[in-house]
Amino acid sequence: MLIRRIKCLRYLGTRYNSSHYVTTPIFYVNAAPHIGHLYSAVIADAHCRYQRLRYPEQDVRLCTGTDEHGTKIQQAASLHGVPVAKYCDDISQRYREVFRSASIQQDDFIRTTEDRHKRAVANFWRTLHTRGHIYSAAYSGWYCVSDETFLTDSQLRLDEATGTRYSLESGHPVEWTEETNYMFRLSQFQDDVRHWVKTEARVRPAKFEKILLDTLSEPLPDVSVSRPSNRVHWAIPVPDDDSQTVYVWLDALVNYLSSVGYPDEKFSAHWPPAQQVIGKDILKFHGIYWTAFLLAAGLEPPGQLYVHSHWTVDGQKMSKSKHNVVDPLQAAQQYTMEGLRYFLLREGVAHSDGNYSHVKAQRILNSELADTLGNLLSRASAKSLNPGQIYPSPSAEHLADLLRSLDVAKRLQDSLLQLSERCESHYECNHFHLVADTTMAALHAANNFFESSKPWTLKAGAPDGNQARLETIIAMTMDALRLSGIVLQPIIPQLANRLLDKLSVPTAQRGWNYLAESFATSPNSSNSPAGLGESRQLDGQTSALLFQRILEETSAKEVKEQKPQPAKRSKSKKKERRETMS
Ligand code: MSP
Repeated sequence: MLIRRIKCLRYLGTRYNSSHYVTTPIFYVNAAPHIGHLYSAVIADAHCRYQRLRYPEQDVRLCTGTDEHGTKIQQAASLHGVPVAKYCDDISQRYREVFRSASIQQDDFIRTTEDRHKRAVANFWRTLHTRGHIYSAAYSGWYCVSDETFLTDSQLRLDEATGTRYSLESGHPVEWTEETNYMFRLSQFQDDVRHWVKTEARVRPAKFEKILLDTLSEPLPDVSVSRPSNRVHWAIPVPDDDSQTVYVWLDALVNYLSSVGYPDEKFSAHWPPAQQVIGKDILKFHGIYWTAFLLAAGLEPPGQLYVHSHWTVDGQKMSKSKHNVVDPLQAAQQYTMEGLRYFLLREGVAHSDGNYSHVKAQRILNSELADTLGNLLSRASAKSLNPGQIYPSPSAEHLADLLRSLDVAKRLQDSLLQLSERCESHYECNHFHLVADTTMAALHAANNFFESSKPWTLKAGAPDGNQARLETIIAMTMDALRLSGIVLQPIIPQLANRLLDKLSVPTAQRGWNYLAESFATSPNSSNSPAGLGESRQLDGQTSALLFQRILEETSAKEVKEQKPQPAKRSKSKKKERRETMS
């Protein structure tokens, strides 16, 4: 079987390949970016940031970009009265801007209109052709312009009243089309694709593996991989046959190869991708077509397809006609971009659709980023309590006594001890909501500890004045903040950096291995400083106000008047979110 030969290549590849190549889908330029698009990119970015943090020796590479060919794009440009190339430039640039503002740390942004990509597509086509997987045939069927694909009867809905057929999946009308074009022998790859899907957790969450296997239980028809140039001309010509252009999905999928330099040999340093992040609507194209194309070309399919569900807005599908499309840049004005990233990763789960609502975003961000995380930093670094503005080192004697005498101190220690292992296993599965949950639980424990140990009664001049004990309490609290900052870097990179800056944590001490350095791991150290050693000065340049509460627009003026308050536990639907499929 072909797949066995490819497995041998894989063995050789993984031995010498320290690359961890990750991709997002490339985004259509027929409309502006919305939060659903950003979600695909933020998942891939958080995944890569975690990989860099956890495995610093790995060569992590993230590629994103724009998908610019096809009738849809041509139509959108003419609707706007703009030449199609200029239209593509403009929308592609908007994606870049959104991604820059959302701190998406991509190594490459590829556009399918670039020459390097056209060369890769031509080469890939020739490889399939030379290997005998492409043939010419007369083809007829129901074609959906919007989906850029032919659909079978079972994928259609007939409106009896008008006689019009619509794509069941997208709802767009289809038209009967008869033409000569090139076909790819997809039918011959049925077993190999099924084998690939079933092996080694290739498609996650498991729900999507099942969907693919259901599709694969029916015979796969061959698929048309070209269109007549006179019908679709904003596309890449078929090599050696100008009368046809390459099917836009074949063109688009090859971007993952073009980005790493295919067909030049250097591409093999990154191939295959470790993970490809996609939305559920493009599962078939990646799980079946892409896998088969790669196998046919003698290349290894990706390590994993990570499939996410969709965002609805106030319970409704996002669409231009409903005027409910959420622009990430506008949403960021309300929540900040870090707030938006946190909300998407905190509230979204891959296996089922998420609902975007202002009320929910406001509630989560206020309760978690403002009240639980930000407020604790403000309290521990308040001048009244911490006039020297330090991140103190704890006294071994008081630390031991607090851990012995206060349940809340012990609970904080326990949750910090578990933080690294738990978050690691959640990150490994892209369960970002569980990382946030675990970190918030640790921060709740820290808030409880801080509140119960009443550090303000220990201040100089207060009846129980005891500087060493006060500093120990602040040190333990700051350790909890520091560890949370390290863990949250992949999810809210800018905010986590600000937190770690404020605490004067050197860049070299922000790696995953530093989660093992805190009072929690060395409580009995006879050598007083636990955590990271000597007391240090907090960074006076960085504000201790990490995240401003989001107020209703009418009362926005009040933002400045806020005072730090004890944190309350969020009442969000935590249980529901915990039920994540593996
Ligand atoms: N151009 C193709 C992909 C080609 S990849 C070789 C495409 N583009 S898209 O712009 O329509 O979608 C890009 C990504 O955005 C997909 O992963 C899609 O699932 C995601 N989303 C689009 N709408 C979405 C939501 N409402 N919610 C979450 N993600 C959604 O498909």
